[in-house]
Amino acid sequence: MTLTTRDHAMRMLGVKFRAAGLPSPELDARLLVMGVTGASDIEMLREPGTRMSGAEEARLAECERRRLAGEPVSRILGQREFWGLTFAVTSATLDPRPDSETLVETAAALLRDAAAPRILDLGTGTGCLLLALLHELPQAQGIGVDVSPEALSVATANAARLGLSGRVAFRCGNWTEGLEGKFDLVISNPPYIRHGDIAALEREVREHDPMLALDGGEDGLSAYRALARSIPDVLTQDGHAVIELGLGQADEVGALFESAGMHVLRTVPDLAGVPRALVAARTRR
Ligand SMILES: C[S@@+](CC[C@H](N)C(=O)[O-])C[C@H]1O[C@@H](n2cnc3c(N)ncnc32)[C@H](O)[C@@H]1O
Repeated sequence: MTLTTRDHAMRMLGVKFRAAGLPSPELDARLLVMGVTGASDIEMLREPGTRMSGAEEARLAECERRRLAGEPVSRILGQREFWGLTFAVTSATLDPRPDSETLVETAAALLRDAAAPRILDLGTGTGCLLLALLHELPQAQGIGVDVSPEALSVATANAARLGLSGRVAFRCGNWTEGLEGKFDLVISNPPYIRHGDIAALEREVREHDPMLALDGGEDGLSAYRALARSIPDVLTQDGHAVIELGLGQADEVGALFESAGMHVLRTVPDLAGVPRALVAARTRR
């Protein structure tokens, strides 16, 4: 039996994915070949002629079947890159999105000169926001909260894999309920899709991201209301809140935080120019 090379397998898979109308066929094919063979980016470039084993070919065929059935690459491989780090993902966690890196960048800049900042991540999912911040800020400590115990198991495993377990704790709960102490920074990417818009989301999102991570209630603002009410009580006097915004939500979310007595300092755009992070504080500065 002649076994195919990694490069050939990747090209063939890319052609099939393109014919099936997948949005990023070549990238998906590359990630799947790397996933089943364990090859790095550099190895893919330097050693394109390396032959795959029979077991790798069989695993790739299974990945192909799942991808063509609409499953995202990250779910098939069980992991996703965010902020240059690898995070485990499962059906209980939102797939970390590149847009959310805007929050990490914004929060890291706010804490750059803080001696030993305490960070609270509300709705932590995989833990990607909090763990990326702890990775950036070696003196920081944090708590990640989620209402989903299954998501918290994933976040706990991610912290261990990234060597950050000593500086993080995870709590199961409803936003800030039962938390003690104050935090220098509260970060959150809450569920913010309007309930009625969920049916029209891309199939990959609708069928594979957990509803708990998507559904923002009738107007998409339910979680923001709860956060605006509760965050002022857990922020230090000079602390900041960095909150992810859904498309077109900046004014409404800003108004919720202002009416809870906080000051909106600015919004920060993502790479597409969409206002993605809202920065608020207890005092105007
Ligand atoms: C949009 S996901 C964000 C996950 C992760 N922070 C990220 O950026 O990829 C929202 C998260 O909020 C959690 N969540 C929903 N309602 C919650 C609540 N009442 N209290 C705490 N967490 C909640 C969900 O389980 C989900 O993990």
